[in-house]
Amino acid sequence: MRLFAIIAIAVAAASCADEVPTTTPFALVVPQGFSPPPLPEDNPLTVEGVLLGRRLFYDPILSRDSTQSCGSCHNTGFSMTDNGQRFSVGITNAVGDRNSMPLHNLAYHSAFFWDGRSPTLRELTMVPIQDPREMDNTIQAVLTSLNASPTYRDLFWKAFGVKTISAEELGLAAEQFMLTIMSGNSKFDRHLRGTESLNAQELEGLRLFNGEANPNAPMRGADCFHCHGGALFTNNKFTNNGLDSVTTDPGLGAVTGDQNDLGKFKTPSLRNIAYTAPYMHDGRFQTLMQVINFYNSGAHANSPNIDPSMGDITRPGGLGLNLQDRMALLAFLNALSDPSIENDTLFQNPFN
Ligand code: HEC
Ligand code: HEC
Repeated sequence: MRLFAIIAIAVAAASCADEVPTTTPFALVVPQGFSPPPLPEDNPLTVEGVLLGRRLFYDPILSRDSTQSCGSCHNTGFSMTDNGQRFSVGITNAVGDRNSMPLHNLAYHSAFFWDGRSPTLRELTMVPIQDPREMDNTIQAVLTSLNASPTYRDLFWKAFGVKTISAEELGLAAEQFMLTIMSGNSKFDRHLRGTESLNAQELEGLRLFNGEANPNAPMRGADCFHCHGGALFTNNKFTNNGLDSVTTDPGLGAVTGDQNDLGKFKTPSLRNIAYTAPYMHDGRFQTLMQVINFYNSGAHANSPNIDPSMGDITRPGGLGLNLQDRMALLAFLNALSDPSIENDTLFQNPFN
């Protein structure tokens, strides 16, 4: 009788240890005025998953020589871009050829990288790990290191109920963390909510931003909203804004194989744009004023596959914005800065 009781307790203890742990749902804070993001149904956000994803994001264990993490090239102080650098440098000192991208409000995006080559954040995570110019590792080696770590085995068990960590859970955890990085509390947002007011110059910049550049329009506008409009300040499409008359980087065209996509790039969000210099896929412009000057008079109408909405911007004479107009546009772009990513402890490196 007593032996039976002991066996019963032992069996209960064993099955208890095997029981898939319960997770805590993560309460995503969506900025006021944003629609709820379309989150992936097969990867529900949990506190365990998000915190594990954050740890992985900041852990150099993902790179071959354990010197570089995702956070090395995506710094909270720069709206998750690479510390003001034009091109990123990988662990072998190899230099990339595209400018690092900000990571905010990605839950609303459906294609990632400047050329859109990754359809999901979980798939994207495997790319920098294996890129010889970035972390120069193999997925197999990463999984070996993670499975050798009692801490990671425990964290993956608690987040996903797996005893052996595979690429799938690695991707899901990183995806969960990146989905939580939201930004929507700039001076402009507070202006919309009525808790703060844009000044006269910023208001004029807003008007120019949303104004038609049509020379017959009653007031001068800058046509920016066609591609950078809406709450996210991007149309979430791939467009060519006329940077070059001869395209050197094929952009989306290399991914789709379609001639009509050559020279098209992901239209970037302009939120937090003051934090993410230099600008464009190749970081060619150092300052926002250089970008504004480009749109004012430097865009190439003959660029292959240039977007039709660039028509009025590239007409002879360009936008015709005087210095005061350009300063107003700059003031408005600066009013899109939200320091929450830098200040929110949730996004910070947990190893610090
Ligand atoms: C060596 C620097 C470097 C490292 C390390 C790095 N990235 Fe990046 N990241 C970049 C660059 C550069 C781009 C743009 C590349 C392109 O478009 O081809 C980018 C783009 C991205 C994007 C696309 C954002 C968008 O709006 O489409 C995401 C997401 C991202 N990185 C996440 C990560 C994650 C997760 C890791 C770690 C597994 C990581 N990065 C490691 C430099 C880096
Ligand atoms: C036809 C669509 C289109 C229009 C109109 C447009 N843009 Fe852009 N914008 C883009 C694309 C696409 C890029 C990225 C291009 C690249 O890197 O190849 C970009 C890049 C930028 C960048 C740099 C972003 C970064 O993260 O590097 C800024 C700033 C910007 N645009 C501001 C403006 C302003 C201000 C206006 C109005 C004067 C404007 N844009 C009009 C499509 C457009």
